[in-house]
Amino acid sequence: MRRLKLSKAFTLVEPGPVVLVTTHDGRKSNIMTISWTMVLDFNAVFAITTGEWNHSFAALREKRECVIAIPPVDMLDKVVGIGTCSGADTDKFARFKLTAVRGKIVKAPLIKECLANIECKVVDIVTKHNIVVLEGVAAYVDHARKEKRTVHAVGDGTFIVDGRKLDRKRMMASRIPESL
Ligand SMILES: Cc1cc2nc3c(=O)[nH]c(=O)nc-3n(C[C@H](O)[C@H](O)[C@H](O)COP(=O)(O)O)c2cc1C
Repeated sequence: MRRLKLSKAFTLVEPGPVVLVTTHDGRKSNIMTISWTMVLDFNAVFAITTGEWNHSFAALREKRECVIAIPPVDMLDKVVGIGTCSGADTDKFARFKLTAVRGKIVKAPLIKECLANIECKVVDIVTKHNIVVLEGVAAYVDHARKEKRTVHAVGDGTFIVDGRKLDRKRMMASRIPESL
């Protein structure tokens, strides 16, 4: 995994892939699946929607740290499995045979098998709407990962896989930050 400039981290989330979010509660690491995500700025500021109903939420609220990990399509069954069981009674790293890697800043682990990982701090929790606002503090990409296509949840148990990439960089030049 290579470090990615933080100014580019929003490009990992902007296409709307299903992501995995890891936490560490001081004793154990856990993983949840999240498809409700949003980019809030060209800087590495994101929102996820989650709340008390998930085991991960207590660690998010108390430790105020997590990692957003971006899984490619070959991890889809693990992604759905992680999102349909609870860290309260399951060691998801062991059950889904995933490798936890220590990040540089937060205690929540990176997931080695994922395409990219973003270490994040929780900067706000908007309880009324179950929105957790995250600020990326370090980002990594695994350029060696062969499968690069991500998945997008429809919401009914079906998923869409990335298709063709279309380039309109010249048309958008006046709207794209120079740091890209
Ligand atoms: C494809 C998929 C997408 C999901 N998206 C979300 C989401 O955006 N927000 C949320 O709170 N839960 C979402 N979930 C459910 C959580 O991942 C699930 O409740 C998980 O078991 C939480 O794990 P935990 O209890 O160990 O924290 C999703 C599940 C799946 C399978």
